[in-house]
Amino acid sequence: MNGPSPRILSPTDEAIAEAAALLEKGALVALPTETVYGLAGDATSDSAVAAIFAAKDRPQFNPLIAHYPSAEAAARDVSFDPRAQELARRFWPGPLTLVLPRRADCRVSLLASAGLDSQAVRVPRHEVAQRLLAKFGRPLAAPSANRSGRVSPTLPQHVAEELGDRVALILDGGACAIGIESSVVALLGDDAVLLRPGAVTEEEIQAAIGPLAHAGEAGQPRGPGMMASHYAPELPLRLDATSLSAGEALLAFGPRPLPGATLSLNLSPGGDLQEAAARLFAALRQLDRDGRRQGLSGIAAMPVPDRGIGRAINDRLRRAAAPRPVS
Ligand code: TXA
Ligand code: MG
Repeated sequence: MNGPSPRILSPTDEAIAEAAALLEKGALVALPTETVYGLAGDATSDSAVAAIFAAKDRPQFNPLIAHYPSAEAAARDVSFDPRAQELARRFWPGPLTLVLPRRADCRVSLLASAGLDSQAVRVPRHEVAQRLLAKFGRPLAAPSANRSGRVSPTLPQHVAEELGDRVALILDGGACAIGIESSVVALLGDDAVLLRPGAVTEEEIQAAIGPLAHAGEAGQPRGPGMMASHYAPELPLRLDATSLSAGEALLAFGPRPLPGATLSLNLSPGGDLQEAAARLFAALRQLDRDGRRQGLSGIAAMPVPDRGIGRAINDRLRRAAAPRPVS
């Protein structure tokens, strides 16, 4: 916890107006999106963007997404090629982020781009995010509202736990429907590159624009924020568990959870991948917290099918299980 708890407000018109006024003053506000909660600041303000990096303890080389109410609004700041236009047409508003060339007169702070000549842009579908964007009238820089390297928040209480009074106000949108961050696609050269798998699946993206390269594969740079270790609980996470060791909590999936767990949560007893994605981060948080309280030594995760949004789930599980940098 960082200091006293921030206010969590139901998203009435008054609360949206107060949030917009805070943003106008350069303060930071947490807002719900359909993916995860974001920590929003005025994307056109260097000091607001710097405050976002500071509140998250985020390295300055890891750039931020600018959020817009519409593709037309985003087109003021970045250049859309025909592929970008097609993806925006199909998937916006929604859980897809496009990394596009900054226009010469781009209003978004260069700090948000971390010195790159590209800018990540997204049009969220969540009604509260849309209302705040409309009221504020300028793009909002908004990374996930967690401290750097930790699990993204899918409930307002998670944001309060992560950021305490580093955020002025949290708008309450309940639990995020998707629960995993947006898919990130870079369209900067001939290749379209998937930087981060998410709710819009590879198959859907390829159906719209053709073949997709992957960050980190031959000839493709790794995304700047795509560290191997990320989304990490404090307890070590073991993947593809087919049996449980003593002292392990269980992250189960499907109708046949492994026997013998004293502490377990099932991402989806019916084996539904959308439901599993929506529960993933809250489940990791809860197993981590309760497991540590109960003196357990780790979390074992059962395998999740690697198709559709299951790929994004497995990406996040791999990062949560990766060796941590010593800090
Ligand atoms: O669903 C989401 O995308 C949420 C909600 C709040 O919109 N936001 C989010 O932001 O997940 P963040 O900052 O936690 O993740 C953004 C990812 C990072 O991995 C970052 O490195 C990458 O997008 N990114 C941002 N700008 C980029 C750029 N110019 N080039 C390459 N990657 C970029
Ligand atoms: Mg994040």
